[in-house]
Amino acid sequence: MKLGVNIDHIALLRQARAINSPDPLDAVAVCERAGADQITIHLREDRRHIHEDDVKKIIQYSKIPINLECSIDDDIMALVNELKPHRVTIVPEKREEVTTEGGLDLRVNFDKIYYHSRTLRVNNIEVSLFVDPDPEIIKMVKSAEVDTIEIHTGTFANYYAMLNTNLAYTHNSIKELELPPHMLKKKLRESIDSIKAMIAEADEFGIAVAAGHGLNYQNISMIKDLQGISELNIGQSIIARSIFTGLEIAIKDMKELIK
Ligand code: PXP
Repeated sequence: MKLGVNIDHIALLRQARAINSPDPLDAVAVCERAGADQITIHLREDRRHIHEDDVKKIIQYSKIPINLECSIDDDIMALVNELKPHRVTIVPEKREEVTTEGGLDLRVNFDKIYYHSRTLRVNNIEVSLFVDPDPEIIKMVKSAEVDTIEIHTGTFANYYAMLNTNLAYTHNSIKELELPPHMLKKKLRESIDSIKAMIAEADEFGIAVAAGHGLNYQNISMIKDLQGISELNIGQSIIARSIFTGLEIAIKDMKELIK
């Protein structure tokens, strides 16, 4: 299973002081040395962490593929078609969210997503769609003619965290903390079942499967052996550990867990 390391949080630390350090480009060489298979970065419309210059430099100097996450905002899409990363993962984006809060709603945005994914592919950029594990959605993904889906593992991660640490990994499901443990276990099982069902459907359509969001050194034990996932994109937990261990060790620790 491949590991994409999301380095947005390095840029977030830089932006906390609005200076030029730490530079996410410096993380790229460390990721390569540690055995990461891909760099993942999210160019947000509000540029709260990664900026265009970061994307340009990282694409220019990285020896491993760049997976650029972004919305289907027209200006962002025009820019991304120029920058030509190896792959674009289209994600939904809301200004007020702390992090991406769910998968794309293809029911509402299909035409625009289809238009942009076709343009990207014409420009030789692979396209992935970040989607919730929802059987309705996978049928629409097939019509969107994309290379890959990235399954949103946030719901799974939330139930795992609530059951095992009594803390949700994001704020949006705090109210569910009141559920009794047997209900949380059931919800956790259902979340894994829906991921498995999504993988099976994608496999039938010949679409590659990545997964990401909220994955960490504990909950990865339930994801790493799911047949059919070829890649995981992980950010927050790796960068958090790196504060204490250094980035190289934090990545190697994760590689060791998923190999
Ligand atoms: N995949 C996607 C599509 C994301 O938006 C993010 C967060 O930017 C990640 C993976 C990484 O999530 P986390 O930081 O929770 O590991």
